Amino acid sequence: MENQPVITKMSARQQSEICQSCHKGSNQFFWHGGVHETRGLSCVSCHSVHAFKSEKAQLKEKTGAAPEEIVVAIETLLTKERPLAGKRALVTSGPTREAIDPVRYISNHSSGKQGHAIAAALARLGAEVTLVSGPVGVADPAGVRVVKIDSADEMLAACLKAGAVDVAVCAAAVADWKAAKPASAKIKKKPGAAPPALELAPNPDILATLSRPGPKRPVLVVGFAAETENLVANAIDKRTRKGCDWIIANDVSTAAGTFGGERNTVHLISAEGVEDWPTMAKDDVALRLAGRIALQLARPRRVVAAE
Ligand code: C5P
Repeated sequence: MENQPVITKMSARQQSEICQSCHKGSNQFFWHGGVHETRGLSCVSCHSVHAFKSEKAQLKEKTGAAPEEIVVAIETLLTKERPLAGKRALVTSGPTREAIDPVRYISNHSSGKQGHAIAAALARLGAEVTLVSGPVGVADPAGVRVVKIDSADEMLAACLKAGAVDVAVCAAAVADWKAAKPASAKIKKKPGAAPPALELAPNPDILATLSRPGPKRPVLVVGFAAETENLVANAIDKRTRKGCDWIIANDVSTAAGTFGGERNTVHLISAEGVEDWPTMAKDDVALRLAGRIALQLARPRRVVAAE
């Protein structure tokens, strides 16, 4: 993969914007992809490298510096060029609501901020995005098709209805269980009677369903792991169990303040290993992830499902 020519889909005008050194419209760039070194694209004409360093390289150097410049480099390189133009993306976001009766439900504290920010970032890079969202307080992102659902069953149906996509990002906090037999009328309190038993049934796993191998599988499937302990170990295990390509692991313990907060500290887990990202605003996590997705989809080979 390293130093293999990559045929880009960029126009000559866009390429000259990228290659500010020679301003030539070559449509070939060399991909530098090793996890231990600089990643990026170099122009065939002048060989100047439009690069950003991998997290592993940064850790190796032990600079300890927050890699804002890398984020800025990705942003400059990718936002201008809309590298996801022509790509289709599906994002799930927010909590699901599982009815117990017409007035009560099972849900969780997910705000939808991270998932919505990812949908917005993918659209900003040119993707045609369908966002399947549970009930959230955040606004619909601009330029994104939003499908609003309540339950996990509805979320799965909406995802399947969205059709073939290049990338699916499952950021929703899907309730693990639903009421086995939701009541059609409000369950009444009866004086002196014991509380009613609530029988639960498992919800479908949307991430695992989308990750199943087959002709309709997205090229890249990204899941999230919200954990309160053994974050990275559990997330590595989750990637294999769900069959997705990447897992974004984040700490949702109360101390981390991720649920409902503005910032997030995540780790990107892929077949290549674990990258620790610095704490960033959720919008920056989203943009950085969208940039990584663009680079992954630009690779000439298909991503293989987790082994
Ligand atoms: O199993 P767990 O909920 O920890 O997995 C989290 C990941 O799986 C997230 O990406 C979430 O969106 C996805 N998920 C799903 N459907 C479920 C449960 C989780 O898509 N029923």
